[in-house]
Amino acid sequence: MTTALRFQSTEDGRLTEDMKQAFLRDGFLILENFVPAEDCDRLKERANKLVDNFDPEGVSSIFSTKTRTHAKDDYFQTSGDKIRFFFEEEAFDEDGELKQAKHLSINKLGHGMHDLDPVFDGFSRTDKLRNLAESLEMADPLLLQSMYIFKQPHIGGEVNCHQDSTFLYTDPMSVVGFWFALEDATTENGCLYGIAGGHKGPLRQRFRREGDILKMERLDDSPWPEEGEAALDVPKGTLILLHGLLPHRSCANRSDKSRHAYTLHVIDGQTDYPDDNWLIRDESLPLRGF
Ligand code: FE2
Repeated sequence: MTTALRFQSTEDGRLTEDMKQAFLRDGFLILENFVPAEDCDRLKERANKLVDNFDPEGVSSIFSTKTRTHAKDDYFQTSGDKIRFFFEEEAFDEDGELKQAKHLSINKLGHGMHDLDPVFDGFSRTDKLRNLAESLEMADPLLLQSMYIFKQPHIGGEVNCHQDSTFLYTDPMSVVGFWFALEDATTENGCLYGIAGGHKGPLRQRFRREGDILKMERLDDSPWPEEGEAALDVPKGTLILLHGLLPHRSCANRSDKSRHAYTLHVIDGQTDYPDDNWLIRDESLPLRGF
């Protein structure tokens, strides 16, 4: 296992030369103390409030009928410019009933909180983040997608190794993931793992829309590199940058601690965003930058 380099965030968010070099070399960059603890807590409170106000009745039925796959897909497919609630796979019993409280059953919220909710908007658009995006030399950074990930105690699901450009594709590829630890992320509660340098390999798959169906298309058969994997275990308030081609994953959370994280996926507006990407936005809600 490789050891990940760790940096302390600069005050104004701009990257130092060392940080830029590390990101170019590894495909990820750990910036500790990027977000004050109070801001993390405010976002957690807001996410909990959204879950409070969410009535799972209409949605949980999705998981208890034969048609669940289609309905689930529809709920997912149209979530690009909404605030939707997705359950942990292990949240339901055989009868389709929740096994534990609603708050402990949600896997994630997605995918438009940054444009639809004032608290998420405020967290996602700061001078510090704008400065950081500038350092990354994105000509026209646009906030495409937000996710609030709960990684619940005991049932928090595993995320298999993938590249984010598989799901959010631009030509040329430009997606960068901004991953905020809202709580300590450890090897016990399901922190990220990234393959250092793995972003220099090809894009393996593309998740494409074909009519009403979403399909995974194989582009390249290369296996993931066997060397270079690093645990990205980080304290609360850390921002991890993830190159769109970086292979990364996280384990299931079997511990009794949650691992809340918030992610933003940013693309360069000067690239082409093909309309067979799964994520579609209504024209009334155009993409905005920081
Ligand atoms: Fe990812």
